[in-house]
Order: sequence, then C-alpha cells, then structure tokens
Amino acid sequence: MAKKVRALVVSFSRSGGTKKVADLVATALGADKVEEITEMQHRAGPLGYLRSAWEALVGIAPNINSPSHDPSEFDVVILATPVWMARMASPMRTYLLKMESKFPRVAFVVTEGGSGGHRVLLQMRDLIRKMPLAEMVLTEDELKQAGHLQKVKAFCDRVVTQYEKETAPLALSIKKTMP
Ligand SMILES: Cc1cc2nc3c(=O)[nH]c(=O)nc-3n(C[C@H](O)[C@H](O)[C@H](O)COP(=O)(O)O)c2cc1C
Repeated sequence: MAKKVRALVVSFSRSGGTKKVADLVATALGADKVEEITEMQHRAGPLGYLRSAWEALVGIAPNINSPSHDPSEFDVVILATPVWMARMASPMRTYLLKMESKFPRVAFVVTEGGSGGHRVLLQMRDLIRKMPLAEMVLTEDELKQAGHLQKVKAFCDRVVTQYEKETAPLALSIKKTMP
C-alpha cells in the first residue's frame, strides 16, 4: 500500500485568490499542515499595490512573521504565490530565502491575472534549486470558473504520482536488502 505523503501547503495571498487555491490543494491532497505567510504590515489599497509592485520589481525580501512549520518535517511542500510584475510575490521570496535549505520535494502553484506565471515557476526553481514534482498556473478567470477544480485535482494527482515514482526505487531497494 502506498505510503501517505506528508504534505505542507504554504501560501501567500494579498487578495484571497491564491489562498483559495491553496486550501483546495490542501483538501485534495489531505495535507497535514497549511502555512499562510503573513506580515506585520498590510498591502491593501493603491499604496499597498504600489509597494508590492516595487518590491517585486527590485527583488526586495520584506520581513514576514515567523513561519509555524518546519518544511524539513514533511515529504512534500506545496508553494503557492501570486504573480507580481511577472515575478513571485515578495513575501514568498522571503520565505524561500529563509527556508532554502529545508525543502524536501516541492511543487509550485502560481496565480496570475493573465501573464508572467511561467516565468515565476522558473524563478522559484532557480531560487531553491529544485525541480518540482508538479507545477500549476491558474488565471483569475479560471479561478472564477468551475473548471479550475479539475486543474487542481490533476495537479494533486501529478504530485502524488511523481512522488511515488521518485521514492519507489528506494523503497524497492530497501525491500530487496531486507532478510
Ligand atoms: C502588485 C501586483 C502586481 C501584479 N502583477 C501581475 C503581472 O505581472 N501579471 C499578471 O498576470 N498578474 C499580475 N497581478 C495580478 C495577480 O497576480 C492576480 O490577481 C493574483 O491572482 C492575485 O492573487 P491573490 O488574490 O492571492 O493576492 C498583479 C497583482 C498585484 C497586486
């Protein structure tokens, strides 16, 4: 019987869209823990938008509140971020830099207005130097339509299948060596 994948779903969301997707992924995967990246200062309104755009453009890593969970205690960590100026949201950048050496296997979720999502996937790979088990980009429009539920399910199936594929050889070789 396949071993249950211990999953942590980590998300940052300014206006709730990425949080909604992260919750769907957590439910579909039966995730053990969810972690919402939070900050001391808010980002609402036009000034919050401008500051967010600026931080993303120049690659600033703002202060975030201390995360509650240690990614190294899980088999898989799902990282979910919105796109800001064709870059990852700056609080997610801070989280990745803070936890860089602690990630087991990862998978990426990106939400966007309509462009830049795939570029953000490459940035996340580069920043933590890991190939993800699976990746998903969802647009605001897709989030408004029911169709995104299938995309979320397909993404979660890919996470589990790829995890089993990557860990199967180890399990088998251990089995072979056991008396
Ligand atoms: C500062 C800022 C910059 C953005 N830049 C882009 C962009 O470059 N490309 C894009 O498709 N959407 C862009 N968006 C739209 C968001 O990526 C999109 O609305 C996302 O779903 C928001 O997620 P959230 O509701 O979890 O905050 C931007 C949004 C903000 C606030």
